[in-house]
Amino acid sequence: MKLHLPVDHVSDTAYLVALLRSYESERPDAKFRDPFAALLAEPKTAVLESKLSWKESGTWLMTARTHLLDRHIERLARQGSVQAVVNLAAGLDTRAYRLSLPENLAWIEADFPELLDYKKARLSHQLPKCSLQNVGIDLGDDEERHQFFARLAQRQGKVLVLTEGLLPYLPEESVITLAAELRNLPSASYWLMDVATPALIRSFHDQMPNSEPSQGVAFKFGPAEGPAYFERLGWRIEAFDSFVDHSECLERPVPSVLRGSPGALNLSGIALLSKRSS
Ligand SMILES: C[S@@+](CC[C@H](N)C(=O)[O-])C[C@H]1O[C@@H](n2cnc3c(N)ncnc32)[C@H](O)[C@@H]1O
Repeated sequence: MKLHLPVDHVSDTAYLVALLRSYESERPDAKFRDPFAALLAEPKTAVLESKLSWKESGTWLMTARTHLLDRHIERLARQGSVQAVVNLAAGLDTRAYRLSLPENLAWIEADFPELLDYKKARLSHQLPKCSLQNVGIDLGDDEERHQFFARLAQRQGKVLVLTEGLLPYLPEESVITLAAELRNLPSASYWLMDVATPALIRSFHDQMPNSEPSQGVAFKFGPAEGPAYFERLGWRIEAFDSFVDHSECLERPVPSVLRGSPGALNLSGIALLSKRSS
């Protein structure tokens, strides 16, 4: 896939999704409220708004994505199905501060150290709802990632691994490696992810008027078959909701410019995976 987002570094994408969450949060009829999103996005809001005109075209997707993920996480944590959430590429996500979670839930955020330090500083007066830990790491560095997963392997209890907004920026071989590593991590019982098909990624790219097609951060992974891609990597689909269907339910309809290829868009959404028995 030769499409790019017009930002300088992949960690800038964390500011972009925080900005999109702030748009929904500001609405009187908001489907979720992230009270920290605007504050966290603020240093890059002006530059992102000058490069991207996604307020109309991107908010539906982030609203559906956030709403679906929030519901899965609250349900699994509150019914005691998981004792820890490992948020890989946590970025400027604030669920540990804003969701209704058991106090004894362990919430482990992994992302580049500078980004997590920035978030910690901005939220220094806030109290998380659960037991929050930050792990500054380059997830693309095999050694760092193996050490991190080795520590996770020591944990008691079941872990929900969340990879929101990470997979599209990884090369396919890294996605395959990650799927195998998580499969081999005994505590990782569930994997919750957003799946973006090439049709979805292309439709977003086509709405970036100021973007150079080959400059910025590349989108590298988008399985045409949607979540079924992960079945051959040893994972089972426990639940799948398409962004298109869920956004209709939330009365955040898909913008008309994106309605051209609904079949392909329907395979983009939120998937909850568990391990297939081998
Ligand atoms: C689109 S953002 C999503 C952030 C967050 N999950 C959310 O949805 O708000 C992608 C995130 O992936 C992180 N990321 C990408 N490659 C990474 C790597 N090699 N190591 C650590 N984090 C990485 C970026 O820093 C960024 O925070």
